[in-house]
Amino acid sequence: QTGHITIDAGYKNTGATKSAITFLDGENGILNYRGYSIEDLAEKATFLEVAYLLIFGELPTEKEYADFEYEIRTHTLVNEDMRKIFEGFPVNAHPMGVLSSLVSAMSAFYPDHQDAEDLTSLHIIRLLAKLPTIATWSFKKSQGHPVNYPQNDLDYCSNFLNMMFALPVASYEVDPVVAKALNKLLILHADHEQNCSTSTVRLVGSSQANIYSSISAGISALWGPLHGGANQEVIEMLEAIKNDGGDIQKYIDMAKDKTSGFRLFGFGHRVYKNFDPRARIIKKAADDVLNKLGIKDPVLEIAQKLEKAALEDEYFVKRKLYPNVDFYSGIIYRALGIPTNMFTVMFAIGRLPGWIAQWKEMRTNKEPIGRPRQVYTGPVKRDFVAMSER
Ligand code: SDX
Repeated sequence: QTGHITIDAGYKNTGATKSAITFLDGENGILNYRGYSIEDLAEKATFLEVAYLLIFGELPTEKEYADFEYEIRTHTLVNEDMRKIFEGFPVNAHPMGVLSSLVSAMSAFYPDHQDAEDLTSLHIIRLLAKLPTIATWSFKKSQGHPVNYPQNDLDYCSNFLNMMFALPVASYEVDPVVAKALNKLLILHADHEQNCSTSTVRLVGSSQANIYSSISAGISALWGPLHGGANQEVIEMLEAIKNDGGDIQKYIDMAKDKTSGFRLFGFGHRVYKNFDPRARIIKKAADDVLNKLGIKDPVLEIAQKLEKAALEDEYFVKRKLYPNVDFYSGIIYRALGIPTNMFTVMFAIGRLPGWIAQWKEMRTNKEPIGRPRQVYTGPVKRDFVAMSER
């Protein structure tokens, strides 16, 4: 503490705003969107219903939903010139880097964002409609396959799956089990109050930057392995354990040894000091989806053993480290045929309505530009020295 400035590294005990969107209770593992429990929403709602709820504050009536869904279905096409930007990326470009670049590029294609307040709803529709389309391009390019165009006769999840997996050489039918699992996963990722990427979206938007640039910044923050990037790290960790003879204790011990620099990905959370309610639902859904699809994935068994071993280990118990949303999600994505390097893109598609809702709330409430202070620890005042005398 220096003068009146208190440093709170990582904002562990600092509230940045007041929000009416999402409620978390970390001690009791509770998560509600606008007062509705995620258990109810994940079971009974569609992802676009939840997107509408988060952004506009109420569950939509049938007419409101039909209009919202129609607007999104009819804006899924992306300007063909965006493809030219996309074609410039190397084939092994990480899909998160491509996604944040192309979402930022949307600000060039929709320059009317300056009067975003009244036009925000059109920008919201464009982002929700076009993100899935853009997201599939990286996967198709990595397979050496042609990209697919969105189809207006498909619902949100089926349209995404069709763009991901349809090929010109054979007909592709969306498996309803797969579409239902995707719908549930997207709902579970839709918002999570002031997490790192959402705080980024708010901070960028607080300077009156446009919504595309703000969301692009959120995608970049989510990419980090300590945040949304953890879902990719989890599967890579589980694969490493499988290839290492399934030696779970070795990885538990490594995670407890600070000098190893290794952490159990998918474990621990800033707010949840109990089971992450999303992880509970996803763990159950993983079993359910793999059984329905007749898939036996050895890493699921490793994940279950790793979870059990960690939850019985004093180090994790003392620090209240439990599986988080990223621990089991990759196992389902994999079962749906989604490649590992696309897992965090799936997180971004799910989190988009939450980012939009939080950005809209911040702008509607005319919150001030974010500008934290610091405690200076550098050298005291000193005189310039000519280069010849250094
Ligand atoms: C998400 O904020 C959100 O809501 C995020 C998210 C969302 O929906 O937006 O929920 C999504 O990002 C989930 C988290 C995904 N990240 C990971 O799974 C990466 C592994 N987890 C950790 O890096 C960590 O738990 C964080 C980043 C999630 C939380 O970090 P904190 O709150 O800063 O906690 P910390 O690093 O201070 O850890 C407290 C203690 C430390 O030990 P001590 O210094 O007390 O001895 O627990 C240890 C840490 O070393 N610890 C771990 C650990 N996580 C914390 N030790 C081993 N393995 C881990 N995973």
